[in-house]
Amino acid sequence: MKRLLSGIKPNGELHLGHYIGAIIHFIEMQKDYESFVFVADLHSLTVNPNPKELRNNIKEMVGLYLACGLDPQHTYLFNQSENIYHPMLSWALECHSYMGEMNRMTQYKEKSRNKSNESVTCGLFTYPILMAADILIYDADVVPVGEDQKQHVELTRNIAERFNNRYGQTFKIPEPIIAKTGARIMDLQNPTKKMSKSAENTKGVIFLLEDLEVARKKIMSAITDSDNKIKYDPENKPGIANLMTIYSCLTNITITEVEDMFQNDNYGTFKTKVADEVIKLLQQIQEKYNEIIKGDYIDKVLDQGLKKAEEIAKTKALEVYQKLGVGRY
Ligand code: AMP
Ligand code: TRP
Repeated sequence: MKRLLSGIKPNGELHLGHYIGAIIHFIEMQKDYESFVFVADLHSLTVNPNPKELRNNIKEMVGLYLACGLDPQHTYLFNQSENIYHPMLSWALECHSYMGEMNRMTQYKEKSRNKSNESVTCGLFTYPILMAADILIYDADVVPVGEDQKQHVELTRNIAERFNNRYGQTFKIPEPIIAKTGARIMDLQNPTKKMSKSAENTKGVIFLLEDLEVARKKIMSAITDSDNKIKYDPENKPGIANLMTIYSCLTNITITEVEDMFQNDNYGTFKTKVADEVIKLLQQIQEKYNEIIKGDYIDKVLDQGLKKAEEIAKTKALEVYQKLGVGRY
């Protein structure tokens, strides 16, 4: 069975963009792949989050992964930081990556823009190398991610090829999987910007644990244009295109079908239908989440996932150290 791997950083609450851009795909694919999905808590450290909040977010994230439908029978779930072999491999990869290629990473450039070298952490700079280690340590075949992470998976492929050329076949070359629809869910108030947990104004972000009435209001007050025609035109009508994408992804019907269905309707009617679908989803997730979070189920799932993840990661990390000539491996 081919292997899938992916992770999400727990600095902030999960929102609809995460669900449609990432989690939905993990769930769809878990039956066909041996899946490893983790909480990328080490990656969170690059922005020095509050430790107490981070701890809560980690538990909440695992609870939500499960509530959304990740099934421990198909998916190994674990916390990145608890598998010590990730940073062990990451160091070896850092020594085979170049400042030049890291400097070209768009996410790093965006996050460090207008900041002095004294305030950007080294972790932010080497972040994609730890991500490469996360992927390569499992010989992952596929890595489902949102569009913004594609460049990091491409870097991972380059590092893997470089290593294989120097030391002999060691790593599998992973494929990024980017969904055709929904890879970029936009902010409801600012539809040219990605829906993001770090948005200053949360009116444009629907959190998975959001109060249902608040969520409905957010959809109903989403920014659109004055044309009042439900047509998919992301360039000229980004707000309505975004709502169409959300509707299409949640109901599993194509964008063209959405256009046909609502051709005679106005924005108010359409927004109500989108809100109904979003509320239905949130309600299902929240009911399951409230059950899951009660006992020690989350810990059991994480223990089981970590055991398997560690086994695989240890073998790969030691193989790499052995090839590099360090230690007595
Ligand atoms: P992050 O919050 O940056 O750790 O994102 C975790 C995963 O969710 C990545 O694969 C992202 O690309 C994806 N993601 C985050 N925000 C969105 C969004 N607004 N639309 C689609 N995918 C998203
Ligand atoms: N960097 C990813 C993000 O910001 C999270 C992540 C860390 C990840 N390691 C990964 C995603 C490995 C896929 C595979 O969203």
